[in-house]
Amino acid sequence: MRKIVLAAAAAFVLSSPVMAAEEIKPMKRTWTFDGVFGKFDKQQLQRGFQVYKEVCASCHSVQYLAFRNLQDIGYSEDQVKVIAAEYQVQDGPDENGDMFDRPGRASDRIPKPFANEQLARASNGGALPPDLSLMTKAREDGPNYVFSLMMGYTEPPKGFEILPGMSYNTYFPGHQIGMPQQITDDRVTYADGTKASAEQIASDVTAFLHWAAEPKLEVRHATGIRVVLFALLFTVLAFFYKRRLWARLEKH
Ligand code: HEC
Repeated sequence: MRKIVLAAAAAFVLSSPVMAAEEIKPMKRTWTFDGVFGKFDKQQLQRGFQVYKEVCASCHSVQYLAFRNLQDIGYSEDQVKVIAAEYQVQDGPDENGDMFDRPGRASDRIPKPFANEQLARASNGGALPPDLSLMTKAREDGPNYVFSLMMGYTEPPKGFEILPGMSYNTYFPGHQIGMPQQITDDRVTYADGTKASAEQIASDVTAFLHWAAEPKLEVRHATGIRVVLFALLFTVLAFFYKRRLWARLEKH
């Protein structure tokens, strides 16, 4: 009997780290960019950019994006100039050796919210808001994960100790996250009049981040299709060529 109890206790102890590390799979969504024929919806990407700009940009950079890249999601050259000019960008040094701020230009990168990592951490209770430009590629099942993370804030289950300044999130590994809930219904008012439910906002910003991480997705898909078509055509040609060749051989 004692042995059984000991064995049960051992099994419990051994299995608990596994339980603690139990992974919760993100919610599955349907995205316009799924599958080989998948494409981005530019209207959605523009809404997503609006969410990034109005909600996420105060903590997260998208360091690989320049303003002019926004032309890919349907803004005209003039619209991009107007968007860029709303930002102040550091330039210099001038003839006196001083750095100075000037309005942004289309060729500038979208400015970061914090000058350095230390400042970013100090402003976020020690947690570092990571750069988001490659985020959907850096996490497994990226778009579904980012969407789920945005929607995953709930009260902690009974008995779950939450450290001060941290929030409970169902989909974050370990469930304690240094980012407070960001997305709620009507958090933004969309320029295109779309109703801003939390789900809509989370899905739009995720699509925008996926475009940022993989701006050439559509080209890649189109190339894939062309390669398959070419291979098919080649197979057909090879078949007829073989028939002709054998027909000639059989005559002799
Ligand atoms: C108030 C600052 C703040 C805002 C605003 C904010 N975040 Fe965060 N975010 C953080 C911090 C801090 C972390 C790091 C959390 C940690 O490591 O515990 C983080 C982490 C993340 C992560 C990475 C999670 C992981 O798996 O490591 C993603 C994705 C993310 N944020 C997306 C967003 C999006 C999208 C928005 C806008 C809708 C946003 N954040 C707005 C502070 C913020």
